[in-house]
Amino acid sequence: MRRTPTITTYSTRGGSGKTLLSVNLAQWFAEVKSKKTVIIDADIEAPSIDKIFKTGEESRESNRTWVHYLDNYFEKIDDAILPTTHENLFMIVSPPPEIGKRFLATKKSEWWSMALKRSIVAQKRLLGELGFDWIIFDNQSGLSMNSVNHMALADKSLLVLRPANYGVDATLEFLQEMVAILQTRIQSRRDYFVWNQVPKPQNEKEQALLEGFLKKWDQFFIDRGVRPTVRIPYVHSLAIELLNMEAGIFAHIPEFYQRIEKIGEILLSSES
Ligand SMILES: Nc1ncnc2c1ncn2[C@@H]1O[C@H](COP(=O)(O)OP(=O)(O)OP(=O)(O)O)[C@@H](O)[C@H]1O
Ligand SMILES: [Mg+2]
Repeated sequence: MRRTPTITTYSTRGGSGKTLLSVNLAQWFAEVKSKKTVIIDADIEAPSIDKIFKTGEESRESNRTWVHYLDNYFEKIDDAILPTTHENLFMIVSPPPEIGKRFLATKKSEWWSMALKRSIVAQKRLLGELGFDWIIFDNQSGLSMNSVNHMALADKSLLVLRPANYGVDATLEFLQEMVAILQTRIQSRRDYFVWNQVPKPQNEKEQALLEGFLKKWDQFFIDRGVRPTVRIPYVHSLAIELLNMEAGIFAHIPEFYQRIEKIGEILLSSES
């Protein structure tokens, strides 16, 4: 079976930039590359996609969400797809965090395997009859049945890393167990990593420290079958803009967006 163009972001630590990268990549695929794209808010513990993209359909039913779909509340994924104000870009949102948190706390493994089956059905329908070119999952951080399900569904994953010793360390166990298994099962699978929020060195000593850190870990990930993409700096103006409600797409900040374009190109070229 041909693998399907499904991307998932992930990280073991929160706040590394998964959501920021997911939404900007989704917008780039949709508006710049004219690919029909759907972004799914798979962070059921702390959903945010519905705050970034407006739907223009405020009267929609509040229970047509990704979580309700997984729970069999309605049958077809079609009913959960919402337009955004961006051309070719659609979204599937998650409900308020109380609901997702309850699921994470109470649902047993049988429920999560049923959820994975429902996700596969949704994936097939989105990329088949519904004609989507790309699905992007904005994942929950850390290891949970939920986040692992989305890792398994993806044929391209993007590990979002913040350069801090404790943050990278936490990724090791995950990589050793998970990525290795997934890569053995699906030959065409590609796993990538990106450094985000990279500080700007103020002098040569800091430059050397940063380079040493990044080079060491670059090699570590490469040795484990996870491929490098780009380094995204910490962009002050972007962080300031995020103080505004609804900010999230940063096509006007070249320092950031040029890196999004580069990651997008890598994800588009299946052989890379
Ligand atoms: N390149 C960057 N430059 C400046 N600030 C950034 C950058 N990337 C991320 N941030 C900041 O980090 C915050 C967290 O980003 P984001 O919400 O995308 O992370 P996340 O991995 O999705 O977090 P969570 O694990 O909570 O879902 C943003 O609100 C923003 O303030
Ligand atoms: Mg997030």
